[in-house]
Amino acid sequence: MSKFWSSTVKNTEPYQPGEQPYEAGVIKLNTNENPYPPSPKSIESMKLAVNDHLRRYPSPTLDQLKIKIGEKEGVSDQNVFVGNGSDEVLAFAFQAFFEPNEAIKFPEITYSFYPVYCKLFDIPFQEVPLKEDLSIDVEGMKSAIGGVIFPNPNAPTGIALNIEQVEEIVKANANKVVIIDEAYVDFGAESAVQLTHTYPNLLVTKTLSKSHALAGMRLGYAVGQKHLIQGLIRIKNSFNSYTINRVTLAGAEAAVQDEEYYREILNQIIATREWCKDVFEALSFEVVDSKANFLFLKPLHVDAAYLYEQLKIRGIYVRFFNKPVINGYIRVTVGTDEEMRALIQAVKEIVRCQVHNYV
Ligand SMILES: Cc1ncc(COP(=O)(O)O)c(C=O)c1O
Repeated sequence: MSKFWSSTVKNTEPYQPGEQPYEAGVIKLNTNENPYPPSPKSIESMKLAVNDHLRRYPSPTLDQLKIKIGEKEGVSDQNVFVGNGSDEVLAFAFQAFFEPNEAIKFPEITYSFYPVYCKLFDIPFQEVPLKEDLSIDVEGMKSAIGGVIFPNPNAPTGIALNIEQVEEIVKANANKVVIIDEAYVDFGAESAVQLTHTYPNLLVTKTLSKSHALAGMRLGYAVGQKHLIQGLIRIKNSFNSYTINRVTLAGAEAAVQDEEYYREILNQIIATREWCKDVFEALSFEVVDSKANFLFLKPLHVDAAYLYEQLKIRGIYVRFFNKPVINGYIRVTVGTDEEMRALIQAVKEIVRCQVHNYV
């Protein structure tokens, strides 16, 4: 605490990102990054973008990239907003569409950045408990005073609502903005983008960080009707005109066009995830039906915090949330088959030290 801090700084409770260990040999399964490289075409474009033009500012309007994203999503470029990671898009959306004095709703267990933005922007919130099976309570998300946000699939459970359930929530909050955070949608859930044609209150956010293996470049976007996009642009242009650098722009443009490459790695990640679900079930874990690139696992024979610590000692980083309802679980990013085999081996060793006759 410093006497020079503003009351805003004093009152914030910053988001705690997952650890970013730099030691060689670490198996990093804690921040839901893609285990495969970005599209070779994207890497080539980024290399070519490191040139003399870097002395100039990048485009403030990002027209070319918006056109490409629009083509991929089946919308006009006027329906696309681009930001420096979807975290930035979400921060702008909270400012653009939610009000102090009007409580927004989000699930009690969800992406922990939402309450951080609420505190920062002075937006009250109501946390809607999950159902017993850890899925989002559709009824509970209806009739919000100030608006709604939730990820689909949800994080950190990975459970997805189907498109009819998403539509029900959008319809039941017709006078307020509903934000569907689709950071993980490409790993097996249904996107709500097509519903944006029908619903003026729906904003869908996506990111190239996960499915497109570009977390290091920071590129996220939102799709919605023009009036919502204009609202986001007003906030962005009151904050920073040039949020996306030239290299990221070049890489993102190539990435969103390389469907073939990404289909292949997405299929691989999904296959690994499904294989791991079976393995962990056989190892006496409760396995949530994740449609994301991570697994939410409840060890039945050992304490989740202990398992997390023991894995870390062995150089395997997963995520543990010390929070009621979910403190019995670990969240594990789906890595390569080789990384997952190492994880499984380590888990067996750790549990065997605690439990006689374990597999
Ligand atoms: C649910 C959810 N939304 C948004 C993000 C932000 O992603 P990015 O800022 O990298 O686009 C994350 C990142 O982990 C996430 O889990």
